[in-house]
Amino acid sequence: MTSPDLKYPQPDADSFLATIQSMTGLPNVAYESEYFAQFERDHVLAETWVCVANLAQLAKDGWVHPVDLLELPLLIIRDRDGSIRVFHNVCSHRGMKLVETPRPTNGIITCPYHGWCYKSRGELSATPHIKGEGSHNDDRFDRSLHGLKPVRSHIFAGMVFVNLSGTAPEFAEFISPIQNHWDEMDFDLYPHGGSHSFWEIELQCNWKFAQENHVDGYHLPFVHPGLHSYSPLGNHYPLVVEGVASGQGSHNQAHSGAIGDITLPMNNNMSRTWQNGRAEFLSVFPNIMIGVQADHFWTVHLIPVSASKTIERMDLHYFGDGATSQQYEHLRTNNRDRMLEIFEEDRAMVEGMQRGRKSPAFRSGALSPEMDVPAHHFNKIVASAVIAALDK
Ligand code: FES
Ligand SMILES: [Fe+2]
Repeated sequence: MTSPDLKYPQPDADSFLATIQSMTGLPNVAYESEYFAQFERDHVLAETWVCVANLAQLAKDGWVHPVDLLELPLLIIRDRDGSIRVFHNVCSHRGMKLVETPRPTNGIITCPYHGWCYKSRGELSATPHIKGEGSHNDDRFDRSLHGLKPVRSHIFAGMVFVNLSGTAPEFAEFISPIQNHWDEMDFDLYPHGGSHSFWEIELQCNWKFAQENHVDGYHLPFVHPGLHSYSPLGNHYPLVVEGVASGQGSHNQAHSGAIGDITLPMNNNMSRTWQNGRAEFLSVFPNIMIGVQADHFWTVHLIPVSASKTIERMDLHYFGDGATSQQYEHLRTNNRDRMLEIFEEDRAMVEGMQRGRKSPAFRSGALSPEMDVPAHHFNKIVASAVIAALDK
């Protein structure tokens, strides 16, 4: 990655230090500056594991799925044997962006500019007319040196993660605090709910506002009166997994998607507290949120598009193969719609913060020492990563 001082103005370390040392949020620059967004991509996000897609977005074996992370073009390939690989989405020849839209592939990716072809493992396999019309090989050109550039990747709970720098600790180390926190949860037992079990929305705000809002239980009675009626603020407890994640739990959340007495199948391997309605939500730095109940789990991932635009996607998974059958489709749809309604209620808040932060009268805010602990925890992780990048 490029040194920060060459590519963009350096963030002011003191303003991020203040976030760590006092009950304040991040400075405005962290949300509204495109320079900062690029700095953050190259020196904060790149250094850890970022979710760039859900497997459900890769429709079938033999599929390519492009994702732009703050304009950095990536390509996820689901090979014909189901294996997943991620590459930089750029042709080695003249730098054309290789794939613009998700689509099936027969195993060959052809650049639209001069027809160079890449295999699904990234090798450059054909260079048509490279030595003049009809001559497809040139002794002066070694194809083996010019394949697609791979990106380190890992799959967890249906999510595709990448580590752009290539130097982050192993994924297992990254995720172990979350697995330890939910030691009763086996994500592999919960298949994706299918076509009625996801949604995707575009938010006119910085990705961090969405993530901070995820961990904020304080707004529940004001923004989500419907949710508050069956999951009141008093039943919630704050969660912090130190240095990694924060969120909330609830002791007696209603069962997901239940219609009347009909409920989704329950994971009876989990303890009574879970079966009686415990629900926990953790926002894991940097860009995912996971919600766990005994009958299902869901994930949200945030794709930062620019400093002020974010794509937010939720995927829902249900316990056991039976839960994804036709029999429960109306419950799954009900659950998905209920979740989308809640996240749409949040939209006005996160987009309103994006507009509010234009005010020079606001300087990092005044957080509640009680109610804003999870949001402050997330802010401190970001601030620490920014300071670490500046110290390098
Ligand atoms: S830029 Fe891709 S083949 Fe020329
Ligand atoms: Fe909310």
